[in-house]
Amino acid sequence: MNYSIMFLSPTGNTEILANTVLNTLPLKNCVYFGGFNAEQAEKSDLVFVGFWTDKGTCNEETAEFLKNLKNKKIALFGTAGYGGAEYFDSIISRIKENIPSENEFIGSYMCKGKLTEETKERYIKELADGSKDKEHIELMLNNYEDALSHPDIKDLVNIRDFARNMYYFV
Ligand SMILES: Cc1cc2nc3c(=O)[nH]c(=O)nc-3n(C[C@H](O)[C@H](O)[C@H](O)COP(=O)(O)O)c2cc1C
Repeated sequence: MNYSIMFLSPTGNTEILANTVLNTLPLKNCVYFGGFNAEQAEKSDLVFVGFWTDKGTCNEETAEFLKNLKNKKIALFGTAGYGGAEYFDSIISRIKENIPSENEFIGSYMCKGKLTEETKERYIKELADGSKDKEHIELMLNNYEDALSHPDIKDLVNIRDFARNMYYFV
């Protein structure tokens, strides 16, 4: 079975996952690694599609790309600034709505990805000017600190296992 890895990663978190998938699977069966490419997807049995989370779902480019896939096995992987299994499940079910039924969705992997410095600055400003609920902002700042180390080594071990499962066992 051949495969491609296609993703979008403006700040590099999802790209770290994509690199790990590439380093895990047999290189000789990799059709393509990089940004979304319909022509290369056409030549692939399995497409690993990587996204970053925007407003509780995948970024728009990923959604548009998924909508045009035909007769593929699809494995999703992505990062989000906020965590929790339930939240990740809700993101994945929203993303899946973009996949036409003629494809086979075979699984997904998500982990946290560090947020930008600007996000932290925004929280600090909101805290200073009192424009938002203090407790909520403090929670967001704690989350910011927690996300800083991600993707971490544990996340990479997990996506390695996920990639193997998708490729060898599904
Ligand atoms: C404009 C914008 C919107 C975001 N919206 C969300 C969101 O709704 N939920 C979330 O968990 N993370 C959100 N994030 C955080 C990113 O999804 C997260 O940092 C991700 O790891 C970025 O991936 P990348 O480094 O591959 O670009 C948002 C980030 C930006 C810049």
